[in-house]
Amino acid sequence: MRLLVTGGAGFIGSAFIRLLLGTNRATSILNLDKLTYSGNLENLEAVAGDPRYQFVRGDVCDAALVDRVLDEFPAEAIVHFAAESHVDRSILSPQPVFDTNLRGTFTLLEAARERRLGRFVQVSTDEVYGSVPEPLAADEGFPLRPSSPYSAAKAGADLLALSYFATYRLPVVVTRASNNYGPYQFPEKLIPLMISNALESRPLPVYGDGLQVRDWLHVEDHCRAVAALLERGRDGEIYNIGGSRSLANLEVVRKILRATGRSEELIQFVTDRPGHDRRYALASDKTVRETGWAPQVGFEEGLSRTVDWYRQNAGWVERVKSGEYQSYYERNYGDRDLELKRLGRR
Ligand code: NAD
Ligand code: TYD
Repeated sequence: MRLLVTGGAGFIGSAFIRLLLGTNRATSILNLDKLTYSGNLENLEAVAGDPRYQFVRGDVCDAALVDRVLDEFPAEAIVHFAAESHVDRSILSPQPVFDTNLRGTFTLLEAARERRLGRFVQVSTDEVYGSVPEPLAADEGFPLRPSSPYSAAKAGADLLALSYFATYRLPVVVTRASNNYGPYQFPEKLIPLMISNALESRPLPVYGDGLQVRDWLHVEDHCRAVAALLERGRDGEIYNIGGSRSLANLEVVRKILRATGRSEELIQFVTDRPGHDRRYALASDKTVRETGWAPQVGFEEGLSRTVDWYRQNAGWVERVKSGEYQSYYERNYGDRDLELKRLGRR
């Protein structure tokens, strides 16, 4: 299959490209990525010399560029990962989230419709369901109640993609995965941030009471599910992809401190995120039933491998944390640290 992958230089997109080329499931892949702060070609060093792989730097909102790319590379399918992917950033500056997550998806859907592409995979998130009350788990029919600009934009893009199936019969599949972790994840999300801070013996900023629950999915399990759904998902359908491992943030942070041999003294409770979803819980029975997929990486094993990866790749962390990331870190955590000093440790 000839694939256009968007956002392939990011955390999950790069794992997907490595998986597909590593298992010979794509004859050729073109990676279209703008290389924002989170896009890093280092993530693709393993495939950079592969004749089946090519890269174009560009914005998925640029309709003329998307047209040129698809004229020169007649893809059979699009797997759309490109996004502004972080909730905290989406709160601090929603504009790029609207541009990329909504307008970018629209641009790609239009190009796919004009060319009658055989498959469009909209890679989405369980965050579109919002906070899920105990003891429920959201299935694909669960109401959409996104709480952040990030999840609202993803929900809007999902609905737009599904409308292209209903209206134009574009063979769309929407995948909704839970929180991912693994190697090459930008150290702004919970697990890589906490690992890299712990390794540097810096404070671990836990939002609110730290009892928010997330369902953790190893990135390789996520990519295996997306690959299965690319091939076998039914047109116009939504598929949840959960890790089946629910943990409170504080439990995750404590596991990271144990794995890195650091003291719990490093934990710092900081002001909560506005609109913070309390609990995510996902039912993935449909994906399991229809594709035979199941998560293979247990959380403890996956976390230990991830800690090892960050320990062995301090240079990668250093490089992605320089420049733009540093100024973002100051904007996001600067005030919280000040508030912390006023409140004292809880
Ligand atoms: P990431 O931030 O690591 O990577 C995003 C990639 O998209 C980067 O390479 C970036 O350069 C690129 N990009 C951003 N804007 C672009 C634009 N306008 N044009 C072209 N490229 C652009 O994100 P990720 O964690 O790999 O997430 C990938 C996808 O998976 C996103 O759609 C996200 O919503 C979804 N998802 C993520 C998670 C998670 O836990 N990280 C969970 C479920 C779903
Ligand atoms: P995050 O990795 O940002 O993913 P999401 O918000 O998409 O679930 O955050 C995971 C959880 O960890 C979420 O409940 C917010 C919390 N969190 C912290 O407590 N401290 C942090 O510094 C970060 C980045 C997240």
